Amino acid sequence: MNQVKTQKPHDMLAATLSGEMAAVNTLIQTRMASEHAPRIPEVTAHLVEAGGKRLRPMLTLAAARLCGYEGEHHIKLAATVEFIHTATLLHDDVVDESSQRRGRPPANLLWDNKSSVLVGDYLFSRSFQLMVETGSLRVLDILANASATIAEGEVLQMTAASNLATDEAIYLQVVRGKTAALFSAATEVGGVIAGGSAAEVKALYDYGDALGIAFQIADDLLDYQGDSKATGKNVGDDFRERKLTLPVIKAWATASDEERAFWQRTIEKGRQEEGDLDQALALMAKYDTLEATRRDALLWAEKATQALADLPDHPIRHMLHDLAEYVVARLH
Ligand code: IPE
Ligand code: IPE
Ligand code: MG
Ligand code: MG
Repeated sequence: MNQVKTQKPHDMLAATLSGEMAAVNTLIQTRMASEHAPRIPEVTAHLVEAGGKRLRPMLTLAAARLCGYEGEHHIKLAATVEFIHTATLLHDDVVDESSQRRGRPPANLLWDNKSSVLVGDYLFSRSFQLMVETGSLRVLDILANASATIAEGEVLQMTAASNLATDEAIYLQVVRGKTAALFSAATEVGGVIAGGSAAEVKALYDYGDALGIAFQIADDLLDYQGDSKATGKNVGDDFRERKLTLPVIKAWATASDEERAFWQRTIEKGRQEEGDLDQALALMAKYDTLEATRRDALLWAEKATQALADLPDHPIRHMLHDLAEYVVARLH
C-alpha cells in the first residue's frame, strides 16, 4: 500500500499519509487476531493480506489532517471504518454468492458461509470496541448510524433485486445506504475528531456522500464493462445475480415490448441462458445506457469536488479533489 508506483490520487494520499496508514495497518493486524478461535485470523488474514485499496481509512485520516488534527484517535477511527467495511464485504459475498473478492476466491468459498457470517460479526464487534476507545459519543453516534444504514441498504437491495419496478430513486437509496453511508461517515468522523467547524464537518459529509455514490455507480458500470484483472471481480456478476443497477434500470425504462420480455425472463424470472449477458450488453449499447450511467457517475464526482469548497486550502484538499475525479476516470 505504501509503495508509490504511479501518481494516482489514492497513491498520493497514501504516500502523504504513509506514517499514519502504517499505524492503521498495524492496528488492523493486532485487532483482527483472536486468541480463542483460530478460524478468525485465518479468514481475516486471507482478506487483509489481499490488500484492498484502503480508501475509507485514508479518507478518515485525510479529513482529520485537513482540519488540523494533531492527536492519535484518527488512527483508531480509520481502523474502525476499515473493519466495518471488511465485515460488510464478508457478509456481502455470502449474500451475493460472489466468486471473486480482491482478486481471490471469497472467504465463503474457501471456508463456508458460516465462517464468513460469524467472522464478519466478530469484525463488526471489534470495530465498536475500537471506536469506543476514542471516548467521543458523537463519533459513536455517526458510526453506529452508518452501520445501521449499510445493513438497511443491503436489505433494501435484496428486496428490490429482480424487481423491475425498481427505479432510479430506489437505486439511489440503496447506493446511499450500502456504500455512501460509510464514505460519508469516514470523512465526517475525521472532521469531528479534529474539532472541525460545523461547516467543515458538513462539507466533509457531503464530499463523502457524493464520492461514495460516484464510486458505487462506477463499480456497477465496471461490472458490465470492466477488466476483471483490474477490478478483481467478474464481469456480468450483477446480471447473473439479477441485481438491478443503473445500466439495466435505464435499459428497462426505454425497452420495447419484446425487450421487456427479455428483461422479465432474465431478471425477474431468472431464467438465464447462454448468450443472455451478450444480449443484455447489446440492449445497453442500443440505448447507450452505459454512457448515461457514466454521466451520472461524473455528476456525483463533480458534486463531491464542489463540497470541498468549504474546506481549508491544503494539499490534502487538492488530493481529495483529484480522488473524486479518479474514481470516475477509471471509466472509459
Ligand atoms: C468494494 O469496495 C465494495 C463497494 C462499495 C463497491 P472497494 O472497492 O473499496 O473494496 P476494496 O477494499 O478496495 O477491496
Ligand atoms: C458492496 O456492494 C458491499 C457493500 C457496500 C456493503 P456490491 O455487492 O455492489 O459490491 P461488490 O461488487 O460485491 O464489491
Ligand atoms: Mg457484492
Ligand atoms: Mg452486494
